[in-house]
Amino acid sequence: MAGLTFCCFLSTDFNLNQENVTLGTGKVSVKEVRDYSAEKEKKDLGFIVFDLNADLTPLFNWNVKQLFLYLTAEYETKSHKLNQVVLWDKIVERGNNAVFDLKNANTKYYFWDYAHGLKGNQNVTLTLSWNVIPNAGRLPKVKGTGSHSFVFPNDYTSGRF
Ligand SMILES: *[C@@H]1O[C@H](CO)[C@@H](O)[C@H](O)[C@H]1NC(C)=O
Ligand SMILES: *[C@@H]1O[C@H](CO)[C@@H](O)[C@H](O)[C@H]1NC(C)=O
Repeated sequence: MAGLTFCCFLSTDFNLNQENVTLGTGKVSVKEVRDYSAEKEKKDLGFIVFDLNADLTPLFNWNVKQLFLYLTAEYETKSHKLNQVVLWDKIVERGNNAVFDLKNANTKYYFWDYAHGLKGNQNVTLTLSWNVIPNAGRLPKVKGTGSHSFVFPNDYTSGRF
């Protein structure tokens, strides 16, 4: 049994697990919100709705149990060269629909910056990544091919988003 598992692990280990992903954004805004944590300082809270188009069906082979998908926003600020925020994630079980065609979808998690790095930010890049969770073998982490960059407005939205 161990030998069999090993051979099957080899047969899928070299899959690139790469797929094309088309991302977009709809409404984008940013607010300055008081953070009720320790410092009680105001921080930037971004709000976006996103589009996601991808067919991840080909990632499933006999050795794939599930996919863990996550949408990440990356951007640069004065204090940090690379900021990464996970905005949405999803588990796709084997046998479930792995074709995504989302329009104006809401993020699952808040888009907080540590400070005021979102307002007027000229390059926020969305990418979709996935962990392929196998029945046996390694757990590859893959960044999908394709990204979408957008700009946050120069002014804070007042009132509700
Ligand atoms: C991804 O897109 C490129 C360019 O549009 C295309 O050549 C390639 O076949 C696509 N790959 C997949 C896996 O669909
Ligand atoms: C935006 O940022 C991404 C990486 O986060 C980078 O690949 C891209 O070149 C940047 N675009 C511009 C116009 O600076």
